[in-house]
Amino acid sequence: MTMDKLFLAFHVVRALMWVGSLFALMAFLSAVAGEPDPAARGRLLKHLREAAIVPDVGGTIAIVFGAHWLFRYKLYETTYMQLKLVLVVGLLALHVILKRKAGQAKRGQDFVPPALLLKPALTAIALGIVIFVITKVPV
Ligand code: HEM
Repeated sequence: MTMDKLFLAFHVVRALMWVGSLFALMAFLSAVAGEPDPAARGRLLKHLREAAIVPDVGGTIAIVFGAHWLFRYKLYETTYMQLKLVLVVGLLALHVILKRKAGQAKRGQDFVPPALLLKPALTAIALGIVIFVITKVPV
């Protein structure tokens, strides 16, 4: 096993953590937005704060180790990686949308709960990313 393969393993695990924690953040945001009781809302907010940190940790580590492979093996020259990174931009956009809502919730501001469409959108983006990077098509 090489150090590079270990880095790729770190990348894949953190990428899965990133995507998974965005689903969890959506659930917490919907729970907080739907909770009429201020005391219960306050208790949910504590969990929302914790859940909102995980996508940042997962995403940052996934990007660092992904970027290592991207530049070490010049994979940015391949079409499948270019298409994968276009989808990653979509993932980053979802990340920012959800983090902004979490910020509003933490500041006690009203926020629009995540649209139902965000879940299938995140699923499709993650599926597309994995299909491109595992099939490595188109080269
Ligand atoms: C900016 C973010 C990202 C960068 C720069 C990046 C970069 C890379 C690179 C360079 C590889 C090696 C590909 C190869 O061996 O040809 C890779 C592998 C992989 N990436 Fe990413 N990636 C990113 C985000 C993601 C995300 C969000 C996911 C999952 C949803 C993901 C899932 C994977 C998987 C499963 C592999 C392993 C593929 C294999 O070994 O066959 N990546 N990534």
